[in-house]
This record gives sequence, structure tokens and C-alpha cells, in this order.
Amino acid sequence: MGDLLLDDPAPFVRRLTLNRPEARNALSTALLGEIADALDAAAADDAIRTVVITGGPKVFAAGADIKELATRDVPGALLDTRVGHWSRVRRFPKPLLAAVAGFALGGGCELAMHADIVVAGEDAKFGQPEINLGIVPGAGGTQRLARLAGAQIAMKLVLSGEFLDAAEAKQCGLIAEIASDPAARALDLAVKIAAKPPLAARLAKELVLAARDAPLDVGLAFERKAFAALFATADFKEGVGAFLEKRKPNFAGK
Ligand code: HXC
Repeated sequence: MGDLLLDDPAPFVRRLTLNRPEARNALSTALLGEIADALDAAAADDAIRTVVITGGPKVFAAGADIKELATRDVPGALLDTRVGHWSRVRRFPKPLLAAVAGFALGGGCELAMHADIVVAGEDAKFGQPEINLGIVPGAGGTQRLARLAGAQIAMKLVLSGEFLDAAEAKQCGLIAEIASDPAARALDLAVKIAAKPPLAARLAKELVLAARDAPLDVGLAFERKAFAALFATADFKEGVGAFLEKRKPNFAGK
């Protein structure tokens, strides 16, 4: 079996399962490349509307592969192919969910933070312990953590290497939900989202990301245009028609 397992557990839903248990799902460059490739393929496939990324029952991902990092030098870090892989993950345009059981550390926490919705198990632990290795997070950890959870929590994790448990992660807004079976709950949400109009879902994702990353005026102008543009879609007619005819809508993504 490969380091990344792909399956489609429900119509329109693709699941990516990290499968390097012997290395605690460490994100080797090869594995990160496979994740980026899988997301590119899902982005290009009209039959996929949402993606769930998950790990094992005890570890989501223990970060970058430290055995690989051990040989890294400055030019290697600057010219690292990982940067391109991460930006492909970041640009994935469809709703991306993460189901996190156990540890999400370093690059594993950064991967979870790339997800639009994170569902965590009660035993989940989130951390950016790179400081223990003499480095700092390098895949957006300092920036996303500060934006999602606030500067105080980001400082605490990044400077001390301490972890947040699931309840703390929920309290500070790093995750959306805690579930007894995070994989099942994330899948349930993914199925629900996959039944929504895909064009509206895609724009909704972009808009909420803009709320985090762009000034309010820019986000509001973008929302106004996205709102207007969706009136031209067949899915809008379908949604309104289904409501008025008291039936379930069937969205085609057109
Ligand atoms: C490579 C890893 C690894 C990692 C664990 N292993 N984490 N290998 N990279 N990140 C390997 C161990 O070397 C060991 O291999 C095997 O997995 C089991 O590890 P244990 O520590 O014995 O497992 P366990 O006791 O279950 O503890 C799990 C853990 C711990 C809490 C997740 O492994 C851990 O703290 N890992 C490192 C976490 C970390 O520092 N992450 C930050 C990485 S830096 P052998 O061969 O001995 O069996 C990073 C930078 C991102 O992410 C920058 C982006 C550009």
C-alpha cells in the first residue's frame, strides 16, 4: 500500500488517508507531493465536490520528515520543492475537510490548518514544536495559527513547543468541532456539502478565506460580485425551483 490512500466513500466525496504509520505519517517530500497531486486531480474532476483528508487513529501527521530535514541546508531549504507542493494544497479550490485523531504536529498541524473545516477527536493534540529542532514552522504555521487562534496562542505554541488539546483548540477557533468519531463526522459533513451547489460552495470558500486574509472593503466587494454572479447559474434556478415546488434540489454545478 502507498503512503497516501485514495478512495471515494460517497458520491462526489474523495478521501485522502495518510498511511505512513511507521513514521507517524511524517510528511516526506514524496508524500506531500502525492497530497498535492491528489488535490490537483480532485480539483480537475467534476465528479468530486469535497475532499476529506485524514490520518491514523493515533496520529494525523507528525510533521515534516525529520530524517529528511536532517540533511537540509540553506540553499536546499530556499529551493525546496515542498514550497510548490504546499502552494498547490493552498490553492485547492473546493471545500477541504480534515479529520484529526491524535497528533497534528509541525507540518501536520499546518496541513490541518489548510483545511476549511477541521473535525478533531477528543484525544487530538495540535502543536508547532519546530523550536525543539532549532527551526521555526515553514509552511504557514506562524501565520495561520496567529490568524486562526490568535497571536497569544500562536506565540505560546511556537515559542514553547507545547501542544493544545482538542478542547483548547476548539475554544481558540483552531478547529470547528470535536467528535467521538472525527473521520465519520468529517465524512458526514463532506457528504452534506457535496450535495450543495458546487459553484456556490467554491465561491463561499473563497469568500470566507478572503475574510481572513483581505481587508474588509475588498472582501465585501468580492462578496457582492460573487453574490450577483451566482444568479446566472442553473443551480440558482434549481435551488429556488426546488424550494417553490417543495422538492429536494439536484445541483449540477452549472
Ligand atoms: C520522521 C518520525 C517523525 C517525523 C515520528 N517519527 N515523527 N520520523 N519525521 N516527524 C518516527 C520516529 O523516528 C520513529 O521511527 C517512529 O516514527 C515512531 O516514533 P515515536 O516517537 O517512537 O512514536 P510515539 O511515541 O508514538 O510518538 C509520536 C509523536 C512523536 C508524539 C508524534 O513521534 C513526535 O514527537 N514526533 C516528532 C514531532 C515533531 O517534532 N514534528 C515537527 C517536525 S518539523 P523509528 O525508526 O525510530 O521507529 C516540521 C517542520 C515543518 O514539521 C516545516 C515545513 C517546511
